Amino acid sequence: MEEQIQAAARHFEALLREQLARQERMAQGAETKDYARAAHIVIGLIDGDGIGPIIMREARRAAEKLLREEIAAGRVELRDISGLTIENRLARGEAVPADTLAQIKECDVLLKGPTTTPKGGTLESANVTLRRELDLYANVRPVTVPGEGIDWIFFRENTEGEYALGSRGVELPGALTMDFKVTTDAGTRRIARAAFDYARANGKKNVAVVTKANIMKKTDGMFTRIAHEVAADYPDIECEDWYIDIMTANLVNSALRSRFEVFLLPNLYGDIITDEAAQIQGGVGTAGSANLGGRYAMFEAIHGSAPRKIENGEGDYANPASILKALELLLRHIALPEKADRLAEALSVCTETERRVVVTGHRDGATCAAFGDYLLEKL
Ligand code: IPM
Ligand code: MG
Repeated sequence: MEEQIQAAARHFEALLREQLARQERMAQGAETKDYARAAHIVIGLIDGDGIGPIIMREARRAAEKLLREEIAAGRVELRDISGLTIENRLARGEAVPADTLAQIKECDVLLKGPTTTPKGGTLESANVTLRRELDLYANVRPVTVPGEGIDWIFFRENTEGEYALGSRGVELPGALTMDFKVTTDAGTRRIARAAFDYARANGKKNVAVVTKANIMKKTDGMFTRIAHEVAADYPDIECEDWYIDIMTANLVNSALRSRFEVFLLPNLYGDIITDEAAQIQGGVGTAGSANLGGRYAMFEAIHGSAPRKIENGEGDYANPASILKALELLLRHIALPEKADRLAEALSVCTETERRVVVTGHRDGATCAAFGDYLLEKL
């Protein structure tokens, strides 16, 4: 046991040094692309696994229609990325195979279908790998329920916390296991800035910082402290502290929930609460998500590849709304807001006001492709 303790301590020291180096690289900042002026924008399309290719087909058709002129003029390119399938990843023993990652790094932005993460084993989630490799530090998830006055946007830190080191814990066999959670100064500052910049640019008056700082005193304590330091530069915006447990209750408290606007959270709490929020909006199938970094950005559905739906033969009935919302976020990100608005309006006609073709996710509803045809008609 003594030897194992020593080995774990050495492992911990290596993690500390590696994370310190990461925080120092981050503090230097990253180059960003000015999409409003860019002469050529490459959108990488990744089908993913399970229902991924089914919902991505509709997103691709919508993108082709919306971007017809830009594609014809050579200003925008839609590029298929191959190799990010669970079969290939398992065969290669790489979460994101090196040649696929190289293709991805040639793009500016990505639209990605859900990828399967094997339970157990050593293969890391492709999402987690891509977020780290592309340094996509802000996971931005809007949730709206217009009828109830709910207009939320979540800024989830996307590269740190439990996720950074979650597959690199230590074990003293038969006795104990220990995982690590890391929060860095630069990592917290940049996500906090993203949330407050968004609030200022969009006329929001309140940012709720959600942690469990009463228990996770170092990591969440630092997250809260830095959020308030950043907030000092935005005196017109209120910065409130909340604990994650009561916030999960607040979101189902209809007397209170519409008062919240912008949420700022560490990675794992953001993961959990955005599924709850999406469910309030109508289900995880209705929510899109942006993973933003300095150089790259990736847009995806917030749900997984739904292997159970494929197994019981209901894959063709999957709801493409989530990936279409992700496409809307992508269009906004590359400075094409009028295209994003066109898509948002068509989606709202198809899913809220007219509802001629209704997807339920099951056999009793329309197919994904039928909904795609309906949407194209309205675009
Ligand atoms: C999400 C997903 C991912 C996460 C999984 C697929 C690794 O749940 O994007 O919220 O935990 O971040
Ligand atoms: Mg999640």
